[in-house]
Amino acid sequence: DNTQLLHAGVNQWLAPYYIVVMVALTAGTFSAFAQEKFSIGLILPMTGPFASTGKQIEAAARLYMAQNGDTVAGKKVELIVKDDTSAPDVTKRIAQELVVNDKVNVLAGFGLTPLALATAPIATQSKTPLVVMAAATSSITQASPYIVRTSFTLPQAAVGIADWAPKNGIKKVVTLVSDYGPGIDAEKYFKDRFLFNGGQVIETLRVPMRNPDFAPFLQKVRDLKPDAMFVFVPSGAGAALMKQFAERGMDKAGIKLIGTGDVTDDDILNSMGDVALGVVTSHHYSASHNSPLNKKFVEAFTKANHGLRPNFMAVGGYDGMRVIIEAARASKGGSGEALLNAMKGQSFESPRGPMLIDPQTRDVVHNVYIRKVEKVGDQLFNQEFSTIKDMKDPGKAK
Ligand code: PHB
Repeated sequence: DNTQLLHAGVNQWLAPYYIVVMVALTAGTFSAFAQEKFSIGLILPMTGPFASTGKQIEAAARLYMAQNGDTVAGKKVELIVKDDTSAPDVTKRIAQELVVNDKVNVLAGFGLTPLALATAPIATQSKTPLVVMAAATSSITQASPYIVRTSFTLPQAAVGIADWAPKNGIKKVVTLVSDYGPGIDAEKYFKDRFLFNGGQVIETLRVPMRNPDFAPFLQKVRDLKPDAMFVFVPSGAGAALMKQFAERGMDKAGIKLIGTGDVTDDDILNSMGDVALGVVTSHHYSASHNSPLNKKFVEAFTKANHGLRPNFMAVGGYDGMRVIIEAARASKGGSGEALLNAMKGQSFESPRGPMLIDPQTRDVVHNVYIRKVEKVGDQLFNQEFSTIKDMKDPGKAK
């Protein structure tokens, strides 16, 4: 009948508006909901040979949140932790999912250089700030204008020991590094500086990054009889190297071990035994760094993690959370460029000492310490005895 016809006509007429209104309402509801959260996508190697990096950083991030509140600018801080198994294609895929599906405000973590480099294009394309808490090849921050780093760089770590060694009777050195970004940085910046200081590098050796067998390389070093062997291996690999160094009687043959502090990583130092005693390295963090803030940090971390000692990875994660949360506060829970800009130029006291995010390079500026492994009570520590203050990344000083 007529009434029904009229009704149907009206409905037909109004239907598109109805749909538009419903879509707008639904979208409004979702965006209002999303705005109540500030989300951090933390991508780490939680399994495989670099799992200790993931474990340290996750623990430190959770500690920072527990100590400093888990809301910012009225929004709940949400930490989404994902395991990339240290495979670059997995890191990249997870980052994409976190940006597209979870709408994270920031990406963080990145346990190895190839993982950070694989993900850099995602940060650029989606304008999502990406905070590197572990990886340490100098060039990483140049891979995207959205990258900020709170770990360290290998050039920073390597030049410290290259200055110390020749003043302390070490004139002839063989270098032994993991054959990828950070190892190549370490080799180059150690060698250039050591030569400049009058030293001699008689051989440069590179070992595979994954599952290295150090034995043939160490044999070669033994035959070459340098005053010292300079080493870079990524966090987690130091124990195997130290064991083989002892087994081949390198120390007994009078060959000293020097390196960046990655080899005497606090996570595994205590298990190395007396062969590690006297090893001199340069690095930005030691669990025995003498400051009230670091004492508090080490105590709280150890207590929250069944006695685990924090290493430099933990500090990169802890300080990374500081940079993210304070940037979130300053930008009122922002994202993209606003969040990124609030990270640049942050300057604060870290458990490592004073630190700055250089607003030009987005890289970390901090002290580098020369340290020697010593026994404190019944425990081994990297005891800092000399400081190079406020070091910028030498990899960018051009
Ligand atoms: C890196 O892959 O950039 C890396 C990993 C572990 C380290 C240092 C650098 O200890």
